[in-house]
Amino acid sequence: MKHTTSYGDQGFSEYIRMAFQRNLGYDEEDYGKPIIGICNTFSEINRCHAHLNPIINSIKNGVIMAGGIPLEFPTISVGEMFTSPTTMLYRNLVAMDTEEMIKAQPIDGVVLVGGCDKMAPGQLMGAFSADKPAILFTGGPMANGEYKGEKLGACSDCRKYWQEYKAGTISKEELMEINAQLAPTNGHCMVMGSASTIAVCSEAMGMMLPGSATPPATVNERLRMAKETGKAIVKLVEDNTKPSDIVTRRSFENAITTLMAVGGSTNTVIHLIAMAKRLGIKLTLKDFEAISRKTPIIGNLRPAGKYQMEEFYHAGGVSGLLSELKNLLHLEEKTVSSKTLKENIGDTTVIEEYSDVIRTMDNPIYKNGGIKLLQGNLVPSGAIIKPKAILNETLMKHTGKAVIFESIQDMEDRVNSETLEVDENSVLILRNAGPVGAPGMPEAGGIPIPQKLLEKGIRDMVRISDCRMSGTASGSVVLHASPEAAVGGPLALVKNGDEIHLNVAEGVLEVLISDEELKDRKNEWKKPIFKEERGYSKLYRSHVLQASEGCDFDFLIP
Ligand code: FES
Repeated sequence: MKHTTSYGDQGFSEYIRMAFQRNLGYDEEDYGKPIIGICNTFSEINRCHAHLNPIINSIKNGVIMAGGIPLEFPTISVGEMFTSPTTMLYRNLVAMDTEEMIKAQPIDGVVLVGGCDKMAPGQLMGAFSADKPAILFTGGPMANGEYKGEKLGACSDCRKYWQEYKAGTISKEELMEINAQLAPTNGHCMVMGSASTIAVCSEAMGMMLPGSATPPATVNERLRMAKETGKAIVKLVEDNTKPSDIVTRRSFENAITTLMAVGGSTNTVIHLIAMAKRLGIKLTLKDFEAISRKTPIIGNLRPAGKYQMEEFYHAGGVSGLLSELKNLLHLEEKTVSSKTLKENIGDTTVIEEYSDVIRTMDNPIYKNGGIKLLQGNLVPSGAIIKPKAILNETLMKHTGKAVIFESIQDMEDRVNSETLEVDENSVLILRNAGPVGAPGMPEAGGIPIPQKLLEKGIRDMVRISDCRMSGTASGSVVLHASPEAAVGGPLALVKNGDEIHLNVAEGVLEVLISDEELKDRKNEWKKPIFKEERGYSKLYRSHVLQASEGCDFDFLIP
């Protein structure tokens, strides 16, 4: 173990640390071996991380087999289901904790162990800034749930069946029987939501070993991949290969191509922009739009498609997918396996029996445009929509009158009210729910269809907000409107009854009022006053960047 400290007396530093490390069972003969920190985010409250400890043991075994010394340490852990008001509020705190612990401790390299939505992005942001050798390893997706012969997925089906219950098409008993199967095993959500998307993009980016993103949490391959990850991090340390030696702009382009090809979560757009900034790489929404235009969705995965991570794993996983995408990738990029992406893919192909799970380039489930950038006077810095998630295709081009909710609370209070003036052509708008407004940009963008319209059989409407939506959700939902209402973006200026025009194919989102009217309304707008006077939420509101810029803190960007 190295003994560099800031005590001033190097000899004394070595002497005092030697005394303390003997208690861990290490002595003189261990000096000089690579010290591998294993960042453990186990938590019983973050249930997606409740099974991490056996995985950590396998990583340790790999480190020891390769001649290193594994030392496990904790960082904060936030899970999507049990964190209020939203895990996104804490992604930057995860990043800060991870970065500072990697920098502060006498470790030569680190394996980041996470999985739930905001954890891996935060961990990678921190590791990129710390820039010691690092590999990400996730806890893996849950195995499929099943109800009466039909596959269930968390949490696309949580939403789907809740909506059906509210519409009166299934009973309370059925709803509860389904509930028991929605999250049937350890692991993170098993549809192509944020957790799965970040994992597959990280593998394509080169920050996970090939084959490690998709094995379900329940299969022994996950433990074997954990062991291999332990071996690989020791080699990275021996070669002094840091994230900045591996991840380039082209690596991010590979990740974005993968995001589009699996019809992945819109949250990933924010995370990739933030991660790139930590390495001094500028990604814009236009970069996503450009890659989206030329990338077909070939991963037939929910919520955009039909299958879940278990089938994706059996079909060939990320390497299988990338083998089809070869012509769109930068294959010479380095990865944490110490090989190039091309070498990682090798001769992997999609398993024939699963050819409907990973389609060919000429037989995609959607020809291109997995995530569409929208621009116009309502969203000068952009907003995004997932065209394939639109349930009612006629809404791809739509003009309707705005029905405004001033906050998430206002939406909850009024959306199901009998007196709400709304019909299926209305455009539902939720504002003051962005990075600063909420704060933390909760996943409230999938505004519920008002009960009275649900009962009429309506399952989709145009919805617009400055917040996010779960990657497992679907609908004609415009997200991440930037700048957000709380900082004076045009979303703050819309009035009930204004006509809103959406044209997904042309990437347009407008409020149909004149520039002069918009300017007058802006002059009358008053900045909101927030209640928080202290603590993390005050720090957050003071420094968070807009969604189009990745929602990192301004002072964390190099
Ligand atoms: Fe953790 Fe879905 S709740 S990934």
